[in-house]
Amino acid sequence: MTLLLLALHVLAAVIWVGGMFFAHMFLRPAASTMELEPRVNLWCNVLSRFFPWIWGITLVIPLSGYTLLLTLFEPAYASWYIILMQGLGWSMISVFTFTFFTYYRKMKRMVHRQLIPEAGLYLNRIRNMVSINLILGIGTILIAVTGRFW
Ligand code: HEM
Repeated sequence: MTLLLLALHVLAAVIWVGGMFFAHMFLRPAASTMELEPRVNLWCNVLSRFFPWIWGITLVIPLSGYTLLLTLFEPAYASWYIILMQGLGWSMISVFTFTFFTYYRKMKRMVHRQLIPEAGLYLNRIRNMVSINLILGIGTILIAVTGRFW
């Protein structure tokens, strides 16, 4: 059971952070030469496939994480790196939910109404939030994996 939970936890983290890394480092520069309208449509399409996965991941990571915490450790004496991982995890989940409800839904609405420049503004904001979550995610993985050796 512990192995399964750890596997789910790590897979969820890899898919989330790896997906953001791919979007930020490869898809964004490749799409930057496109006209605004096809670029916004492309990102709408990409994010409408990526975000449902992130909703699942925002359930899997805390559920598996807290179950591991309760079974592997005495929660009151959890190491500093587990406490930090938790804090960073909730920060990432907050940044994602904020981005989804504040910027992504508005971008979709603007695309639907063919207000492309406005949709482009929300796309820029989403990009900034994904950059923040990418930095948080890389930091969380590094802390999670190396923390026990510090
Ligand atoms: C939301 C709250 C979270 C809790 C309660 C939590 C809890 C835990 C626990 C208890 C472990 C096992 C630690 C060990 O065996 O030493 C673990 C491992 C791990 N966690 Fe988290 N975690 C959370 C969020 C995250 C997030 C957001 C990420 C990355 C984006 C992450 C990445 C990892 C990784 C990569 C490991 C494997 C570390 C290893 O065994 O080398 N966790 N987590």
